[in-house]
Amino acid sequence: METYRILQHPILGEIQQGKPVEIEVDGKTISAFEGEPIAAALLAAGIRVFRYTTKRHEARGVFCAIGRCTDCMMIVDGIPNVRTCITPVKAGMKIQTQVGLGKPQEMQP
Ligand code: FES
Repeated sequence: METYRILQHPILGEIQQGKPVEIEVDGKTISAFEGEPIAAALLAAGIRVFRYTTKRHEARGVFCAIGRCTDCMMIVDGIPNVRTCITPVKAGMKIQTQVGLGKPQEMQP
């Protein structure tokens, strides 16, 4: 699958990419660039569904892309309700599709 990222923006100019890293999404490893929004890495990898709503189990993904709508919430490193459009990628992150409100992983002693 061809992936796309904006590298030259008419207002922001040239976009600097971080170093290439790998992250895990629902058990599958994908490539990303450190510091880019998690949502950007997922969209570049062809992932469009980030969570499912609580009552109607409807799929949601990026909507506002500025941290206001919560449609992009996912479980990141065991923490639910993380807005992936404003959360930067770090190497080795483990990201899961969120269903409903999400449940945090058990705290390790
Ligand atoms: S897409 Fe709206 S908060 Fe992330």
